[in-house]
Amino acid sequence: MSELTKIILPEKDMPRQWYNIVADMPNPPAPALHPGTKKPLTPDDLTHIFPMELILQEVSTERWIDIPEPVLDVYRLWRPSPLHRAHQLEKALDTPARIYYKWEGVSPAGSHKPNTAVAQAYYNKKAGIKRLTTETGAGQWGSALAAACSFFGLECTVYMVKVSYHQKPYRRSLMQVFGAEVFASPTDRTEAGRTILAQDPESPGSLGIAISEAVEDAAAHADTNYSLGSVLNHVLLHQSVIGLEAKKQLEMVGEYPDVLIGCCGGGSNVAGLVFPFLADKFAGKDVRAVLVEPTACPTFTKGYYAYDFGDTGKLTPLALMYTLGHNFVPAGIHAGGLRYHGAAPLLSQLVKEKFIEAVAYPQNPVFEAALLFARSEAILPAPESAHAIKAVIDEALRAKEEGKEKVILFNLSGHGHFDLAAYDAYLGGKLVDLEHPQELIDKALAELPQVEVEV
Ligand SMILES: Cc1ncc(COP(=O)(O)O)c(C=O)c1O
Repeated sequence: MSELTKIILPEKDMPRQWYNIVADMPNPPAPALHPGTKKPLTPDDLTHIFPMELILQEVSTERWIDIPEPVLDVYRLWRPSPLHRAHQLEKALDTPARIYYKWEGVSPAGSHKPNTAVAQAYYNKKAGIKRLTTETGAGQWGSALAAACSFFGLECTVYMVKVSYHQKPYRRSLMQVFGAEVFASPTDRTEAGRTILAQDPESPGSLGIAISEAVEDAAAHADTNYSLGSVLNHVLLHQSVIGLEAKKQLEMVGEYPDVLIGCCGGGSNVAGLVFPFLADKFAGKDVRAVLVEPTACPTFTKGYYAYDFGDTGKLTPLALMYTLGHNFVPAGIHAGGLRYHGAAPLLSQLVKEKFIEAVAYPQNPVFEAALLFARSEAILPAPESAHAIKAVIDEALRAKEEGKEKVILFNLSGHGHFDLAAYDAYLGGKLVDLEHPQELIDKALAELPQVEVEV
């Protein structure tokens, strides 16, 4: 057990390989399907938007994949990230639980997102690509990719969900500081954007729409590729550095977690934390993993486990995942990074197979938890990360009721320094708790694509 507050892994002990959970999953993952033919995808189907090394990682069954030296060089700017023991939060809750958090907000963009952005920019540069396109919701991913592109001398075009573009002008500025061009999506630059604008000129945008725009832009230009900040297998692979480091840091103080917790948008930060520990769970170790989502976007707690498109324009492959339907346009809650209709197929399968639990919270209790955390640990969490904090607090209070000394580890995926408008709205009593209505869930079921593969 640690009396330390910060557990620091020396740079020389930073992981030099990523962990690929596919090698250890009890059941092989279902194949992704081609959006046109609906037949299993082949690596060649992806070469117009991804470099071959990332495509090979996407389908790899190797347990360990070497992290290239130039990627390690950039990681060293902020990695290993610290593991904190939340002594002050424990005191505030008067809990016997020992709470640890992996602090990913120390990165250049202020979240876990650069762990994959840097790797993706590196492989694209190596393949001779000149420009990357992407979407961003809250702006965390866009700023991560913008920074990564500037490290490796790539141009970067970001389609930012329109509601966030206006809510978070300084995230846009940060992307521009790193040299990216940023557009409020839907735009009139792409067919996908124009179609949406024709239906609804006031569309607030969504991640699904912005993905369509970014994919279309990349596919139309030979020197341009597309980059996704979550969901895909190779993204989850890159994020495994979080859990691998945390495992070593807990070992340094003689601890092993009883419960692992992360917030979930597309699933990359929670997978990054949890997957290296799930290998132990598959081998019989008693450890729980919990993902946390907003009730306004309840992909796991109310969605379907089915093949669906990753975007609104139906340009992406079909993935077997939990989904609220590719036409889902989320309510404007303040955790922009958690407003995605689908989720990582690997994570989805492990939830379906009951290796990972899912819970959902409305935004007011989440912000209440964020304030308690900020006032005890002196870190302003991103609204996304605050979902995990709410679940941690509930878990710690349960431990108190039960008189149990649980060890809780969670991923503090980012800081909220660009989210002060959201805090302002909370403090002013202006946040509304939203549930995703059942009629929209039923409608989504009717719109799911028909596939012949058994689910
Ligand atoms: C701080 C933060 N945490 C979590 C997420 C959710 O993404 P994921 O589920 O891929 O980790 C985001 C997405 O933008 C984010 O910015």
